[in-house]
Amino acid sequence: MFLTTFFNALVYWTCRLLMRAGPFQVFGNLVASFIDFCYATLYKIVTNSHKETEKLVVAAIKNGTGKGKVAIITGANSGIGYDTAKALGRVGYHTILACRNMELGEKALNSLIEETDLDNFELMALDLASFESIHKFVEQFKERHDSLHLLINNGGVCMCPYMTTAEGIELQFGTNYIGHFVLTDALLDVMKRSSPAKIINLSSLGSYMNAGIDKELVADKSRYDKSRAYYNSKLALTMSAATLARKLEGTGITANSINPGYVATNIFQHVGLSAKIQNMLFTNTVMGSLTTLAAVLDQQYNDTTGQYFVRCQPTYSHPSANSIKEQDDLWEFTEKLVAKHSDQRSYGTF
Ligand SMILES: NC(=O)c1ccc[n+]([C@@H]2O[C@H](COP(=O)([O-])OP(=O)(O)OC[C@H]3O[C@@H](n4cnc5c(N)ncnc54)[C@H](OP(=O)(O)O)[C@@H]3O)[C@@H](O)[C@H]2O)c1
Repeated sequence: MFLTTFFNALVYWTCRLLMRAGPFQVFGNLVASFIDFCYATLYKIVTNSHKETEKLVVAAIKNGTGKGKVAIITGANSGIGYDTAKALGRVGYHTILACRNMELGEKALNSLIEETDLDNFELMALDLASFESIHKFVEQFKERHDSLHLLINNGGVCMCPYMTTAEGIELQFGTNYIGHFVLTDALLDVMKRSSPAKIINLSSLGSYMNAGIDKELVADKSRYDKSRAYYNSKLALTMSAATLARKLEGTGITANSINPGYVATNIFQHVGLSAKIQNMLFTNTVMGSLTTLAAVLDQQYNDTTGQYFVRCQPTYSHPSANSIKEQDDLWEFTEKLVAKHSDQRSYGTF
């Protein structure tokens, strides 16, 4: 516990110190990533992820944490989302798998039911890269359910070649951040009625790799850089969790962001890391779901909000996530971007 606090602080302070230091930023990123990766490897060796998950799940079942509650998790048909959904279902949440690929979604739904012997899982179609699909999902959700206690914004795409969402927004920013922004906005009314409730954004160490939000990167195709675009989207997710925490103060809704670590999943399909190399270097998806589960299920974090979690505890987030000015700037940029790409809908109901 102490060692984790120490290494988390070391990594994130190194990033903070060097991230805005011009040419030293790249050097700072490399040093921080190296320390982070070394400690992640040690953490993987000393942490029994199955045992830790079991501890959280058993305690949550005993406390009735998920009983009678509803959770949505995006991108739950594979990877970290799948194992997170499994634990949430076991805890008692009626767990909705919000998936783009319905064939894989069906497979995931069936294996979750088979593995847990429970039937409190539901599959619904959601493409985060389409406003139309997001609004259809929300409409259907509200027809079927009148409460929502947990929203896990987990789905994502990483370092793909230049592509755009249905509305023409750069795909990584558009899916990972904007899609979840629109989804969260549309679900907030029902979450407010169901409070206490929690919002979790899946971020990454990558959120630290850019000095701040680069708006030009979103707007100008000629500047596209697949790594920087991913980092931009992940920093935006960390910042928007912090902004939401502030805007939702007093509503009983908390908002936090998570760095799940280095996890062997499909997310690296565009990076060219084979499954074999990933399995050698990275950790498994049970470990990948642990930090999200700690933030959701560990009672000591019931009221924690606006934080960035790494290895199951809050740590220092990117300085932009702590700057109200930068948070507001991103929020305004986002609302304008969404409005520009929308037809008749209005946004900004937070
Ligand atoms: N793995 C890591 O080391 C790592 C590190 C830091 C952060 N993360 C974050 O953790 C989250 C989960 O990723 P993962 O590692 O578990 O990878 P994964 O197995 O590839 O999961 C990503 C999920 O997102 C879904 N998705 C992609 N585009 C979507 C869209 N337009 N609409 C709806 N769903 C969409 C994918 O669905 P399809 O099957 O349809 O593509 C998939 O279910 C991501 O946000 C990722 O950035 C992962």
